[in-house]
Amino acid sequence: MASTSFLAIIFLLSIISFPASEAQLSSTFYSRTCPNLLPIVRSSMARAVARETRMAASILRLFFHDCFVNGCDGSILLDDTPTFTGEQNALPNRNSVRGFEVIDTIKSNVEAACKATVSCADILALAARDGVVLVGGPTWTVGLGRRDATTASQSTANSDLPAPSSSLATLVSKFAAKGLSARDMTALSGGHTIGQAQCQNFRLHIYNDANINTSFAALRRANCTASGGDTNLAPLDVQSPNAFGNDYYQNLVGFRGLLHSDQELFNNGTQDTLVRQYVRSRALFFSDFAAAMVKMGAISPLTGTNGEIRLNCTKVNS
Ligand code: HEM
Ligand SMILES: *[C@@H]1O[C@H](CO)[C@@H](O)[C@H](O)[C@H]1NC(C)=O
Ligand SMILES: *[C@@H]1O[C@H](CO)[C@@H](O)[C@H](O)[C@H]1NC(C)=O
Ligand SMILES: *[C@@H]1O[C@H](CO)[C@@H](O)[C@H](O)[C@H]1NC(C)=O
Ligand SMILES: *[C@@H]1O[C@H](CO)[C@@H](O)[C@H](O)[C@H]1NC(C)=O
Repeated sequence: MASTSFLAIIFLLSIISFPASEAQLSSTFYSRTCPNLLPIVRSSMARAVARETRMAASILRLFFHDCFVNGCDGSILLDDTPTFTGEQNALPNRNSVRGFEVIDTIKSNVEAACKATVSCADILALAARDGVVLVGGPTWTVGLGRRDATTASQSTANSDLPAPSSSLATLVSKFAAKGLSARDMTALSGGHTIGQAQCQNFRLHIYNDANINTSFAALRRANCTASGGDTNLAPLDVQSPNAFGNDYYQNLVGFRGLLHSDQELFNNGTQDTLVRQYVRSRALFFSDFAAAMVKMGAISPLTGTNGEIRLNCTKVNS
C-alpha cells in the first residue's frame, strides 16, 4: 500500500525533526519572566560547592534520579508525609541521594527575585549543569520550561533506576527505556568522575569480582571490610574525585572501577572501544557527556499547563 508507506515516511520524518520531548524546552523560557535566573542559580551553586566540593556530584546525581523516574519533574524533591509516599525512601535513594537543602536554598533565592515563576525541576536542571562546570566539566545549554509534578512514584524509582550490581545488558536496557543509547549511557556514567559511594554499594565488586586490579581492591577493602562499615565512603574516581575529567575511563581500562556497574563498561563488551576513545580524548567525552545531559534533561517533561510551579520544592502547592 503506497499511501500507507507514504504516511509512515511522513510520520518518521516528523519524529526526526521534532523529537517529542526536546522540542518543548527552550533556553529562553524565563528570559522575560525571570531575567536573572541563571546568575542566581550559578552564584547559589558556587557558594554550595565552595562549602563542600562533593555537592557538585550530589546535585548531578539528584538530577539523574529525578529524570529517570517519570521524567525531569522535580518528583524526587517531594518529602514523604504521613499521607504521601514519595521517592526519597526508594532503595536507590534512601540515605544516599543528597543535596535537597541546596535546591531549597536556591529555590528561596529564585522566589525572592521571581515569585511563583520558576519550577523546581528547572532549578535542578540548571544547578546540575552549574555544578559540573564548577568542578571543571563541560558546559551545555539547559532547555527550560519543565513544570513540577504533583505526584511521585516510589515503585518506579525502585524499578527504573539502575543498581550498582547491574550487568551491561541491564544498564543498556534501563537507559534505552528512557530513550538513551548505549553511547549516552557510557558517557553519562562518566558522571562517576566525581563523588563518593558507600561500601555497601561496592563491597561485592571488591571482594567477589575477578575483573579488578588487585592493589586497588586491597586499597578499598581497607575501609570496607567484609562485614560492617556499610556506609563508609570511597571516591568513585580513585584519581581525582573532586575534578571532572576523563580519568573515570582511565580507571576502567586499569580495572579500577569502583562499582560492578562501572567495570561492566570495560569488560570485553560492546562499550570497550568507546571507553578507550574517551581515555584518548577528554574532548570527545566532554562533548558526548554534554549532549547526553541535554537528552537526559528532556525525558518526558511536564509542560504547558501540566503539573504546577511548586512554591516550595519539598511539597505540592496547597
Ligand atoms: C549507569 C548506571 C548507574 C549506576 C548503577 C549508578 C549507581 C551509583 C551508586 C550506587 C552511587 C553511590 C551511592 C551511594 O553509595 O550512596 C552513585 C553515585 C553517583 N552517581 Fe551514579 N549510577 C549510575 C549512573 C549515573 C549517572 C547517569 C549519573 C549522572 C550523569 C551519575 C552520577 C553520580 C554521582 C555524581 C554520584 C556521586 C554522588 C555523591 O557523591 O553524592 N550516576 N551512582
Ligand atoms: C593496578 O593499579 C596500579 C595503580 O593503581 C598499577 O600500578 C598496577 O600496574 C595495576 N596492576 C595491574 C595488574 O594492572
Ligand atoms: C573511610 O570511611 C569514612 C566514613 O565514610 C570516611 O570518612 C573516610 O574518609 C574513609 N577513609 C579512607 C582512608 O578512605
Ligand atoms: C577478555 O578476553 C581476554 C581474551 O579472551 C581475556 O584474556 C581477558 O581476561 C578478558 N577480560 C575480561 C575483563 O574478562
Ligand atoms: C517548605 O516547606 C517545609 C515543610 O512544610 C518547611 O519546613 C520549609 O520551611 C518550607 N520552606 C520555605 C522556604 O518556606
